[in-house]
Amino acid sequence: MKTYNIALIPGDGIGKDVTGAAWQVMQAAAKRGGFALDGTRFPWSCAYYLETGAMMPPDGIETLRKFDAIYLGAVGWSAEVPDSVSLHGLLLPIRKGFTQYANIRPHRLLPGVQGPLRSDGFDILCIRENTEGEYSGAGGRIHCGTANEVAIETAIFTRAGVERILRFGFEQARARRKKLASVTKSNAQKHSMVFWDEVTREVAKDYADIEVSHYHIDAIAARMVLAPESLDVIVASNLFGDILTDIGAAIQGGLGYAASANINPDRSAPSMFEPVHGSAPDIAHLGVANPIAAIWSGAMMLEHLGEVHAAAEVMSAIESVTAQAIGTIAGKDRTETITQAVLAALS
Ligand code: IPM
Ligand code: MN
Repeated sequence: MKTYNIALIPGDGIGKDVTGAAWQVMQAAAKRGGFALDGTRFPWSCAYYLETGAMMPPDGIETLRKFDAIYLGAVGWSAEVPDSVSLHGLLLPIRKGFTQYANIRPHRLLPGVQGPLRSDGFDILCIRENTEGEYSGAGGRIHCGTANEVAIETAIFTRAGVERILRFGFEQARARRKKLASVTKSNAQKHSMVFWDEVTREVAKDYADIEVSHYHIDAIAARMVLAPESLDVIVASNLFGDILTDIGAAIQGGLGYAASANINPDRSAPSMFEPVHGSAPDIAHLGVANPIAAIWSGAMMLEHLGEVHAAAEVMSAIESVTAQAIGTIAGKDRTETITQAVLAALS
């Protein structure tokens, strides 16, 4: 039987609850699909940091490299470990280390889910650059603690990095409604963002069938709220994409429905799948986290592994559950209730 080796990193807080939920659904989908998912669990998290002084062992990246995919719940427990330490110690090194340069985040309303907008006819795919830009980590601080203190955080945009994420976005647009929105702030950021606009125009020449629009980040943020149905594929830098995908999560009903895939498109290293939400310390261990974003991310993993039919089955199961008004109101249904409903719908 075809077997995929999956690294499971439940992480912190509700990351553990939703990973358990998503894993049950993925296992059930595998059984139906006639393939196997062999999971190896890694305890890397803030608790692990408090025990060992690191979010993962020094050879953590090398350990993960041999897996077919990585599934991650959520990372962060800021009461005990600063977020800048936990995220730069686990999540961000995986995205960068495995060149998962395309962060794919779908935003649409599941049946029965009420978003905050009047509009319900939108289907947006955000493609967020995931390895450089504003998250490059380049910079530093000098004269610390003095009146002359200086902090520098340099955004790095390389031609290779910008071109490949745009090409990836154009390919996605080609498989969808053939519209691509390229996001910058080139009226204010005259180096990096003017460069991004130029590369967009160059790459667009290879995609004459795609309708390209250039938006500034502020304008497209408003458009996602006012006219989300006018958008198809959005391509944005790391930070802009981060912000837009929280708007996307909001208009699709909340972070409980926002799935994501960190993709290494040339498959030279594993890709990673994770819900967009964080560890949610306020509801951790209460058993009320919505597992739908996590299960949807699991479906994205199955699709990436080539198990397209199983992925589609998981998506229809999720949709039939929300259509029955299960998991559609925050806090109403327990994690386990929603998970069991998805499992029942799957079979
Ligand atoms: C996300 C998260 C992360 C990000 C944080 C936790 C570093 O907000 O995946 O959207 O900014 O990428
Ligand atoms: Mn975010």
